[in-house]
Amino acid sequence: MTQSITRPDFEIHPRLDARPLAGLLHPERPLWTAGELTALTSTVAAELPGSLREVLRFDPAQRWWARLALTEGVELWLLSWLPGQHTRPHDHGGASGSFTVVQGRLSEEYRYPAGPIRGRTHSAGDTLGFGAGRAHQVTGMGPEPAASVHAYSPPLVPTREYETLHDVPDEIPTLAHFRPGAGHRP
Ligand SMILES: [Fe+2]
Repeated sequence: MTQSITRPDFEIHPRLDARPLAGLLHPERPLWTAGELTALTSTVAAELPGSLREVLRFDPAQRWWARLALTEGVELWLLSWLPGQHTRPHDHGGASGSFTVVQGRLSEEYRYPAGPIRGRTHSAGDTLGFGAGRAHQVTGMGPEPAASVHAYSPPLVPTREYETLHDVPDEIPTLAHFRPGAGHRP
């Protein structure tokens, strides 16, 4: 059953079954740790697969995403990845984050400031949490279309893109929260 819940302290995507998700959002929590974000994305992926399928879309023209929820402390997104669709190298402006792969596989090249560039593969059910300062580039590996649930705290902090991960500075300053119209995307 799809039911929207509207409260002044959070919003939930109208196509989601809002009640189980509302219990996970902790609107009183102003800042989430990487561990708390990890618990959120893994729980949403494991316990709300039907709701996620209701929302999930794939777009051959461009990478697709939808915001699932937003509070003062956290934002939650569903992203899809057709084979080869990818982000540019980016950081999260000093926000902490987590993602859980719902289906398919993602490849990730990542780097911590002043560290080496590393690579890994994330398969369905895998979760990764990270603190401020991590930069990465994520690609849908195929052959199956991939989907993943992502959470960031603080929410609505703009990402910063780089030509390559070699260009990530040794220190990543924390950016201010999003201002409407500033072009935020996950
Ligand atoms: Fe990212």
